[in-house]
Amino acid sequence: MNRPVLEGLRLNVPAYVKHQRLVDWVAQVAALTEAAGVYWCDGSAAEYERLCQQLVDAGTLMKLNPELRPNSFLARSDPSDVARVEDRTYICSTKQEDAGPTNNWMAPAEMRALLETGEQALFKGAMKGRTMYVVPFSMGPLGSHISHIGVELTDSPYVAVSMRTMTRMGRGALDVLGETGAFVPCVHTVGAPLQAGQKDVPWPCNPTKYIVHYPETREIWSYGSGYGGNALLGKKCFALRIASTMGRDQGWLAEHMLILGVTNPQGRKYHVAAAFPSACGKTNFSMLVPPEGYAGWKVTTVGDDIAWIKPHDDGRMYAINPEAGYFGVAPGTNAHTNPNCLASLKSDTIFTNVALTDDGDVWWEGLSETPPAHLIDWQGRDWTPAIAKEAGANGKPSPAAHPNSRFTVAATYNPVLDPEWDNPNGVPIDAFIFGGRRSTTVPLVTEARTWVEGVYMAATMGSETTAAAAGQQGVVRRDPFAMLPFMGYNMADYFQHWLDLGGQIAAKGAKLPGIYCVNWFRKDAGGKFVWPGYGENMRVLEWMLGRLEGKAGGVDNVFGTSPRYEDVRWEGLAFTREQFQSVVGIDKAAWQQELKLHAELFQQLQHHLPAELPATKARIEERLSR
Ligand code: OXD
Ligand code: MN
Repeated sequence: MNRPVLEGLRLNVPAYVKHQRLVDWVAQVAALTEAAGVYWCDGSAAEYERLCQQLVDAGTLMKLNPELRPNSFLARSDPSDVARVEDRTYICSTKQEDAGPTNNWMAPAEMRALLETGEQALFKGAMKGRTMYVVPFSMGPLGSHISHIGVELTDSPYVAVSMRTMTRMGRGALDVLGETGAFVPCVHTVGAPLQAGQKDVPWPCNPTKYIVHYPETREIWSYGSGYGGNALLGKKCFALRIASTMGRDQGWLAEHMLILGVTNPQGRKYHVAAAFPSACGKTNFSMLVPPEGYAGWKVTTVGDDIAWIKPHDDGRMYAINPEAGYFGVAPGTNAHTNPNCLASLKSDTIFTNVALTDDGDVWWEGLSETPPAHLIDWQGRDWTPAIAKEAGANGKPSPAAHPNSRFTVAATYNPVLDPEWDNPNGVPIDAFIFGGRRSTTVPLVTEARTWVEGVYMAATMGSETTAAAAGQQGVVRRDPFAMLPFMGYNMADYFQHWLDLGGQIAAKGAKLPGIYCVNWFRKDAGGKFVWPGYGENMRVLEWMLGRLEGKAGGVDNVFGTSPRYEDVRWEGLAFTREQFQSVVGIDKAAWQQELKLHAELFQQLQHHLPAELPATKARIEERLSR
């Protein structure tokens, strides 16, 4: 094999690497970025430990108290680099209409000039003074026909270690690739070259950021951020934005969905995939603990964030979780909201931007009712309840952990991990759930009567925004299929793709998965959540499964079927008929207003908008006017 030699730089290609195109590309990127060295990650435990130690020495990671939190670390990011940057995220398809009106777009040649080829191109010399890590990874079980391979080149060792947790990373992925296999090339730099003798900072990054996708050539280029979805390119960039375009072309779906297994006391197991916008409790739902009264029921996690779903010859849709770990939001996680998640984080976890306790452990808002008397906050400053009050705004104390602080942990630490989570054939999906965070209007649960009605529910989903993305919080934005920040192509074409897949499955005579719209977040006049949520969501899940079996009753509302009070099991929960009514009721005036917002969305997406959607809206309007 030809091993290109760059002047003054050793590529260090291990003997087991047999893929000439990969080696050539690594050489090209090393030359462009002027990396000081190249290191090929093998994915071993020894390598992980070595890199973590290197990160500790550099001040990026801090080792937590090994007695309280073995093999775990805390990272503090630069305060300017704490979330996904949606306004810096681009879909660079040749035609703007293929990116659609919901994405930032730039012509590929223009973007390439900015990043790679122009005189001032950002990637030129961007890795000076830094090692470039070659990170091969498989999204999905190694060798599965549903999985795909990517290779990330990054100058961030924090990214390299996080990718080992979040994906099947290392030699195994290269073995699948063989000599000529296809891979998605992902290039990442923190955009902070080091001049000779310049001292590094613990969290290098750049105020200029670009998160760029070329869907036609299936490439990802990310500049300037070291945080989460901006930098761990297997996650949102590959598994959602690039994969959604692969799915469009190849007849499958890449979705922002958790996947859970639910087994009833008779031993019958169902699989449910559920889409919620970021920071709406997907991880909690995927690890749900059934409440009192549900002896014999079991909920198990296949995935907590992303699902790749392919229709099979048997007419069913099979899903894998392309990830191997959880990069979850820490605040709000506690023994009530998600005990299984807390158990997953006992060891071997990298925490980012949470608070540090005096005994070397971690803390975040909501972990305990009363915060410790003293903490070091996510920016490394002293924190006490008094300091927090003083520094707070709008009557709220300044948080010790950043609201988008995260944990990174391997799925295998989850005590309720589904035994099929690594099955290369995936699991058959029985139902899809779509949920937003809405204080009003949207009922607790509604079943779509038809596939088209379900696609309508998903397409018109709205949600109050959260801290997972930079920007204003708490305003309702339309978030179709919870995919707004993650769509790799034109949203209207994506709606059509869903309709087409449903049509194909129905044409085979197979039963389509049920589609449900949920809202756990309705508030009362005092601003309090009415529905207790968390484990109690099992009651809603049971109703859905009952519907799939044709056993549970319900009543039609204007846009689907909802349960009556008597259709839900209440054993172990004091929840009155009145309370129930307040979470399922349809307020006609609010719905009239809501439909105006659906109309605005359809106006925005009118190019290629499937006619079935406005037709469904017209039917809802007609029912509302009765
Ligand atoms: C996530 C997100 O990190 O959706 O999963 O923002
Ligand atoms: Mn997500």
